[in-house]
Amino acid sequence: MDNAAETLMVTMERARYPVLVEAQALTTLPEWLKNLGLRGTLWLVCDEAVAHPYGRPLVAMLRAAGFTVNFTTVPSGEASKSSAQLGLLYDWLISGGVERRDTILALGGGVIGDLAGFAAASVLRGIAVIQLPTTLLAMVDAAVGGKTGINHPLGKNLIGAFHQPQLVLADTATLATLAPRELRAGWAEVIKHGVISDASLFAELEALAVERGWNLAAPGGCWTPDDDDLTMRLTAIIRRAVAVKVGVVSRDEREQGERITLNYGHTIGHAVEALMGYGTLLHGEAVALGMHAAARLALAMKLCSADLVQRQQNVLGAYGLATTMPPELDPSAILALTLRDKKVQARRVRWVLPTAIGHVVIRDDVPEALVRDVLVSR
Ligand code: NAD
Ligand code: GLY
Repeated sequence: MDNAAETLMVTMERARYPVLVEAQALTTLPEWLKNLGLRGTLWLVCDEAVAHPYGRPLVAMLRAAGFTVNFTTVPSGEASKSSAQLGLLYDWLISGGVERRDTILALGGGVIGDLAGFAAASVLRGIAVIQLPTTLLAMVDAAVGGKTGINHPLGKNLIGAFHQPQLVLADTATLATLAPRELRAGWAEVIKHGVISDASLFAELEALAVERGWNLAAPGGCWTPDDDDLTMRLTAIIRRAVAVKVGVVSRDEREQGERITLNYGHTIGHAVEALMGYGTLLHGEAVALGMHAAARLALAMKLCSADLVQRQQNVLGAYGLATTMPPELDPSAILALTLRDKKVQARRVRWVLPTAIGHVVIRDDVPEALVRDVLVSR
């Protein structure tokens, strides 16, 4: 596999921006800012958990390069995707004299990307944002594609806007400090991207798993900064997974068609996440369960082979992800919640189902009884 750090490009009708996936990508930020002509004040919004290792050194580097930088931290966790926290960001920006030519830098996981991205989308009717993801999930999913927003007490991600960044820098070296469980949840999205659209990405994940005795989830997760060879391979794999997202959102920014395929595993995943109580399972862990159920549903519909189901299960397991539903979950409750899934159109659930590794279809004609069978047989 080629390890050359080529820059990916999101190309939409009204937006075009680079996405760099590389160890130490953050050190290239001053150069990018100059090349992009972003000379206004920089407003760095940073997850408090990464302020010490990455946020403060980044501020120092940018100031040394001649930029004016304002810095704030946001408490870690989903609770920060709130109107209260957004209000605090508005206060900070407006009282600090934010101008139209300024840029917000979002440093952290998907929570910071969504929150700071929405602040950028809305303050002064929109200023520039640069996404600097530090979780695997944010690198391969949240930072690319321009979905920004906050939660409402009645549901997740109900308030937001599409606001494409000027640049995404995914510094894979930051994954060295990420909790192993968070890392594993991110691998679910990487594997998902292989299954929906890149058979050779999936094959690479499989090959690495075979080499490592089907266990990349040893203590410390599967990010070992001391192993240069493994770090380079994993970075190349992540870049490939990001490329899938870059391609999908470039072809379908507003989720009119192909972007729906990114929701593979999410119909049942969302239901499981909600039923277990948000925060019990990480999103990626629930998606892994949903991917396994969706593949079994595809098999029951005769859309895919048993071999596909097995290969996907093996790879999920190798990266530390469970595929067996928690026994306390009632299949009827899962079924009922899937019918309320946000991708339901005209009361029909739009299922994303695999037909081959690297290929999925969207179907709204899956019999409820079949879903029940799959959930009951676990
Ligand atoms: P997160 O932002 O909560 O980060 C997970 C945890 O890791 C947090 O505790 C954080 O403090 C910590 N952390 C982050 N980077 C770290 C690092 N390098 N070292 C040590 N700790 C670190 O969660 P997430 O999984 O990154 O993102 C989830 C959010 O993303 C959800 O709100 C979800 O709705 C959103 N999301 C958005 C999109 C989109 O398209 N906009 C897509 C998927 C998910
Ligand atoms: N996370 C799904 C999307 O960006 O559309």
